[in-house]
Amino acid sequence: MPEQELYPVPPEWAARARINADGYDLLYGRSLADPGSFWLDQAKRLDWIKRPEIAGDWSFDKADFHIRWFADGKLNVAANCLDRHLAKRGGDTALIWEPDEPSEQPRRFTYAELHQEVSVFANVLKAQGVTKGDRVTIYLPMIPEAAFAVLACARIGAIHSVVFAGFSPEALAGRIEDCGSTIVITADEGRRGGKRVPLKANVDAAAAHAPGLKTVIVVAATGAQVPFDATRDRWYHEAREGVPATCPPEPMGAEDPLFILYTSGSTGQPKGVMHTSGGYLLWASLTHELCFDYRPGDVWWCAADIGWVTGHSYILYGPLANGATTLMFEGVPNWPDASRIWQVVDRHKVHTIFTAPTALRALMKDGDDFVARTDRSSLKLLGTVGEPINPEAWRWYHEVVGGGRCPIIDTWWQTETGGAMIAPMPGATALKPGSATKPMPGVDPQLVNPEGEVLSGATEGNLVIARSWPGQMRGVWGDRERFFQTYFTTYPGKYTTGDGARRDADGYWWITGRVDDVINVSGHRMGTAEVESALVLHPEVAEAAVVGMPHDIKGQGIYAYVTLNSGHAPSEALRKDLISWVRKEIGPIAAPDKLQFAPGLPKTRSGKIMRRILRKIAEGDVSSLGDTSTLADPSVVDDLVANRVA
Ligand code: WTA
Repeated sequence: MPEQELYPVPPEWAARARINADGYDLLYGRSLADPGSFWLDQAKRLDWIKRPEIAGDWSFDKADFHIRWFADGKLNVAANCLDRHLAKRGGDTALIWEPDEPSEQPRRFTYAELHQEVSVFANVLKAQGVTKGDRVTIYLPMIPEAAFAVLACARIGAIHSVVFAGFSPEALAGRIEDCGSTIVITADEGRRGGKRVPLKANVDAAAAHAPGLKTVIVVAATGAQVPFDATRDRWYHEAREGVPATCPPEPMGAEDPLFILYTSGSTGQPKGVMHTSGGYLLWASLTHELCFDYRPGDVWWCAADIGWVTGHSYILYGPLANGATTLMFEGVPNWPDASRIWQVVDRHKVHTIFTAPTALRALMKDGDDFVARTDRSSLKLLGTVGEPINPEAWRWYHEVVGGGRCPIIDTWWQTETGGAMIAPMPGATALKPGSATKPMPGVDPQLVNPEGEVLSGATEGNLVIARSWPGQMRGVWGDRERFFQTYFTTYPGKYTTGDGARRDADGYWWITGRVDDVINVSGHRMGTAEVESALVLHPEVAEAAVVGMPHDIKGQGIYAYVTLNSGHAPSEALRKDLISWVRKEIGPIAAPDKLQFAPGLPKTRSGKIMRRILRKIAEGDVSSLGDTSTLADPSVVDDLVANRVA
């Protein structure tokens, strides 16, 4: 890897930016040397009903395990995103909505209008009996009402659980039940890339498996005819009629939960990652400002979906807390054609775009013409998130999209971390393609070996974070033990990220990918265990093992090995059936790219599947399978190799 490839801070950024290289060193040094006063100082960026006097209060040790930030403070997150901007910039655009269909008009909401919409939505929720601490499931497409609904929950102290609108009814039902929410907000249909997604029908199907569901609020997004259950369902446009447009924000403790977001792990079903109010908002807002040197007037576009943490932190909470103009896009990057993203940039004079490497690789494949025919002169910064960015895509983003003018902000973080953890600042950090560069203030990353020893110098290992930061998740919903077990037992006293990383001689961090059984498909996390349990639900499947494999566009693809019950024979039809089965059970993002029928799986004598071997075969690296003599039946390997799906 050409590590000498270094892109210095452009002079105009060094001159303009809030933080330059020395500034970064000072800030970072202070954040670790004197965290108490550093974080109380940072807390001033929020509006508090009661200003906190304690910053971090935490221990990662089993005996005294707890994580709290600003625990004596009180605030309302929605008031921080809306009300406090009204006096100065009530007339500024808060939200720009760009529709799927390019011939339709975008919609714009000023801070004053957004405040009003959120207040109305909040009153609708209240009228349905929703109160502080209740869980509200949001299953909406990328329409303005998604923003209203999320912020309405924050306003009244309800805990939102946004479920990505690409998830199946089964996956939705599991999430509704797990957090015990009695209300779902959805739409008649979603639109993406000219196609319709039957969201209301999905909720109806989910309801069959979610007996606790009592109320469904339905936004008429496309106007489609949908089945309606008069006792359970309410049209949003009817429910809002005559509802007052003022709703006082609920005072919340800094440690009161703000939201739950389900994410995949290496074992079991997705877990409800819980974030709280004060620390999370501070983290989203601070990182948005530092990584992107955000200034009033910049048009900001995070091209993620609201169903993922990136959408939470960087479409809504971070930018709105900072009073930014945030763009929300209903569509997809390659529809009607591969120019769309750049046309939207031109249409709204976007200053910063924040997207995922998988989207860049897909657009790259369609050729430079689609980019070249657009102007893009408004662009000043280019962000990326979700997976390691390969240097080839990095350079394409930098040269072809940004014309060599725009620093690339590669942000490493996780649902669990609330916001960016390792990332450059445009005025401070010289860039290396493929490296997320340096830690944010207060972030103390370390590399450890499998024995848990901390490694020093330029080396590679497992990435852990040695101390708490304000944006850290506070728990797995309903399962305190699972939180501790998952993140704090592998390397006692430290937060385990599940990622591997390398630190080079300049102290730059390079994320190498997951070291656990999580696959990163197009920047989305998928647990191998989840896909396996979906497969074994199929009546003809006896056993399944799922691993990741390299994929040109998606980063990683899903490779499934399936053993059938006796009496069932492999066939092309069954292969297709199993792939669509997973699609139906979890959602399209979980559908295996390749599926191999295997009469047996490589297991140790104690019955443990040797995934290492399965990964090698999936990668096509069959010449170095290592020692297979410890397998219960070494001959299964020959069959797997012979029948590998190329
Ligand atoms: C991966 C998305 C390399 C990583 C915000 C992490 C990255 C997982 C990067 C979290 C990056 C995210 N470089 N890898 N810039 N950003 N990842 O929870 O493996 O959906 O653990 O959060 O994505 O995915 P999640």
